[in-house]
Amino acid sequence: MQILGIESSCDETGVAIYRESAGITAHQLYSQVKLHGEYGGVVPELASRDHVRKTIPLIKAALSEAKCQPQDITAIAYTQGPGLIGALLVGATIAKSLGVAWNKPTIGIHHLEGHLLAPMLEENAPEYPFLALLVSGGHTMLVDVQALGAYQIIGESIDDAAGEAFDKTAKIMGLDYPGGPLLAKLAEQGDDSEKRFPRPMTDRPGLDFSFSGLKTFAANRIAAANVDGQEPSGQASANIARAFQEAVVDTLAIKCKRALKQTGRKRLVVAGGVSANLKLREQLAELMAQMGGEVFYPRHEYCTDNGAMIAYAGYCQYKSDKLDVGHEIKVYPRWP
Ligand code: KG4
Ligand code: ZN
Repeated sequence: MQILGIESSCDETGVAIYRESAGITAHQLYSQVKLHGEYGGVVPELASRDHVRKTIPLIKAALSEAKCQPQDITAIAYTQGPGLIGALLVGATIAKSLGVAWNKPTIGIHHLEGHLLAPMLEENAPEYPFLALLVSGGHTMLVDVQALGAYQIIGESIDDAAGEAFDKTAKIMGLDYPGGPLLAKLAEQGDDSEKRFPRPMTDRPGLDFSFSGLKTFAANRIAAANVDGQEPSGQASANIARAFQEAVVDTLAIKCKRALKQTGRKRLVVAGGVSANLKLREQLAELMAQMGGEVFYPRHEYCTDNGAMIAYAGYCQYKSDKLDVGHEIKVYPRWP
């Protein structure tokens, strides 16, 4: 059984093939980061047009990488939502069209389920049940995962997602887009002389998050470090980056600890773009050691958007007979 996976929900075109007996046999990714860089954020129309240009060449490359022919493919999985409507429509239209041309079933995948299942592609895959922390540019949530398809959201951000807070703060600091990883890099040079940032919503019960205030706090600290209208010094910027990162990571760790206590889970899965953050990994490793549990991550290239997670989620859905029948092309830009 071989599943072709297509991801096109935002600014990454990802195509991969998952083979039941061998795992991922092809992994092709094209990032539009440079295209959107000069605008300081994703331009939806440019994203759609670029997916149109890149998806089919990447599918050809994936088939050749996996040394297989279209007839060897069992089913085609694609990201059906949530995401940018135009970008989603490109992937869905190509998946559905290939489904007709090759006479193969298609499977619509929820992007976040893709992220959630990505750690299953690793050798040391977690067993169900587990607690998942999903931290991406669009979402921050704690999910109690009882089994495949049995997900309960027990906490989420009431405003900005963690990745969004990283990106917006980085932008205020004058870093290039996407700023999250650049801010994390800058934080490594910081020392602890910057004022402590708040840990939002940790002083009251509950598992929800709020990150938009941290961006404002950072903006005020940058203004305070801005002497005589000059940009803050490199060291002052690095210190602010460090204090900001510590606040985000600490807040995530505090809520993970609460959620683990509440659910009694011993396994923590961390996925989505922000799971690439080294400070977060370090702190969650400490937390799980303290709690006698284990933490699981996807490998670096499966943390951010990619086709492998969609191919794998497609494989799981196919095994559960969850096919996307009919020729209608339907995507869900917002999908609870
Ligand atoms: O999962 P993803 O690729 O796309 C979405 O589905 O949103 O996540 C992208 C997000 C961006 O906000 C990016 O800045 C953030 O993940 N990110 C990081 C790091 N690497 C990526 N944030 C903090 N530290 C990092 N090392
Ligand atoms: Zn994503």
